[in-house]
Amino acid sequence: TEGGSLYGRIGPEALAALVTRFYARVAAHPDLAPLFPADLTHTAEKQLAFLTGFTGGPPLYHQRFGHPRLRARHLPFPITPARARAWLACMNAALRETPEIGEAEARELYAALSRVAAHMVNTPEEGE
Ligand code: HEM
Repeated sequence: TEGGSLYGRIGPEALAALVTRFYARVAAHPDLAPLFPADLTHTAEKQLAFLTGFTGGPPLYHQRFGHPRLRARHLPFPITPARARAWLACMNAALRETPEIGEAEARELYAALSRVAAHMVNTPEEGE
């Protein structure tokens, strides 16, 4: 049913591998890690559920947690433009670490996530 979707082309295993690699990067990033819980298990589960629906697969996040209201959910965290860039850099690195995801799919997913990340910025750069 998801044949032509990004989800159908990436597949659940590769998407799960991407999310695992992404949070390993986040946990190691000095400007991102302090925002997140020490144990990223549940964060990663929610992200995998979200990305499954976001890429055109089953709407797992909606089914389990309701409407994501992503910008509102991120308001407790000071997301500066630098942190949005750091988030995207972690995602780009994780995509490169996941050769199961083809080049075209990686580009398409990264472009879509870039737009969401820009929308999450809620705090000006420090010193501005
Ligand atoms: C949750 C940071 C961008 C999707 C979170 C949490 C933090 C965070 C600190 C809470 C983690 C937890 O308590 O478990 C950031 C930062 C971003 C960013 C710094 C930089 C722009 C994004 C983007 C997406 C996204 C682009 C879309 C793919 C989510 C989801 C959750 C989440 C689905 C779980 C929400 C929930 O608790 O149900 N994020 N995020 N985030 N983020 Fe982000």
